[in-house]
Amino acid sequence: MLQVFSRSLSWLVIIFSTIALSQAVGAETTSPAKLSEQERFFENSVRPLLVQKCLDCHSGDDSDESSLAIASRENLLKGADFGPSILPGRSQDSVLIRAIKWTHKELRMPPDKDDRLSREEISVLAKWVDDGAFWASTKLAARPSATEREKPLKGKTVETDHWSFKPRNIVSPPNVDDARWAENEIDRFLQNERRKRQLTAVREADRRTLIRRITFDLTGLPPTPTEIKEFVADPRSDDDAWRSLVGRLLASPHYGERWGRHWLDVARYADTQGDVGDIPIPDAWRYRNWVIDSLNADMPFDAFLQAQIAGDVLAQKAAATSEEVRNLVVATGFISLSQRFGNSKKDQLHLTIENTIDTLGRGVLGLTLRCFTLPRPSFRPGSANGLLRAVRHLR
Ligand code: HEC
Repeated sequence: MLQVFSRSLSWLVIIFSTIALSQAVGAETTSPAKLSEQERFFENSVRPLLVQKCLDCHSGDDSDESSLAIASRENLLKGADFGPSILPGRSQDSVLIRAIKWTHKELRMPPDKDDRLSREEISVLAKWVDDGAFWASTKLAARPSATEREKPLKGKTVETDHWSFKPRNIVSPPNVDDARWAENEIDRFLQNERRKRQLTAVREADRRTLIRRITFDLTGLPPTPTEIKEFVADPRSDDDAWRSLVGRLLASPHYGERWGRHWLDVARYADTQGDVGDIPIPDAWRYRNWVIDSLNADMPFDAFLQAQIAGDVLAQKAAATSEEVRNLVVATGFISLSQRFGNSKKDQLHLTIENTIDTLGRGVLGLTLRCFTLPRPSFRPGSANGLLRAVRHLR
């Protein structure tokens, strides 16, 4: 029975295992979404600023002129000669913020006028303090040199053991004694596992239960009383009646609406641009509908991905009709929906691109590529040059 729809659903299954696993791989020790946003802000905006503008003179070495080390949150909370350097939640009163704003009585940081922080940089640090001065688990570290960044990391078997680097394998389904469970391959896997765990399967569901389950699964809606009645009374064999039911549901436009939603989650779809302004994106719905229509049209998964990542390029090459061109361009909504940061599109473009790469990595490769942006990743599944090429493409 399962075979009827297992093919159409198979790529969704792949996506879901991808998401589940990529979340497991990228799991943060504390998971609330809020935290990961704070972490992102710290890693993308705060850490680089402190490393580049302050760390040289505030490393905590005895040779530093200042006894203030800024290598950790604790150091900053403790502060030095001028008391605590930061008061989380109170940027106005924090010595560090007043020093970089040059509103402190004595301190002007960085001391050299030419190195003075820009207004954006000051507001990054002020926002960071006001939001509680979140600090990622690691200490600040000086940036490794370019050659060091390209070096493969030693002693991390995860690079080869990681599931998403393994070639796909054809496995043969196990043999099971019970003929009832040998009807299709998936049943055989399940039965095999049940036997190992000494579990007995429950009875087969009746038609009323089946139609309810499958209608919810494929369309997200309950079956109507008439549909239930018709299926229960269908004089054909269980197998034939089931096949035609599944066929009808897969052909329903609600199928794409139901299952497209899951891909839209992967693509972090929203009708607005994110960040504080939350400005509506007028044409976002076109991309949403493209996803739904693609599912309903049974578009192969490779074409589905290619259109979203490089639809604009494909549109130039192919001898496409104007409708195809339009659809290919709409598909790149996957990229153009990337989160915006701040008020000006240009200023924080690198963060927007980082968001795109993160979405691509998690959604398509089963990898959190975010680690590339850290100065010393514990695990780097490729070269920084590869990432730079991706950035160039996305720009
Ligand atoms: C060129 C070296 C240099 C750089 C770069 C620099 N500082 Fe300083 N910083 C100093 C010195 C020297 C002192 C001690 C000044 C004093 O005691 O008058 C100091 C003191 C401070 C203090 C007060 C510490 C205390 O004793 O309580 C803070 C806070 C501070 N710096 C923050 C920063 C921040 C934030 C940055 C980066 C935006 C930065 N500094 C960049 C040299 C530097």
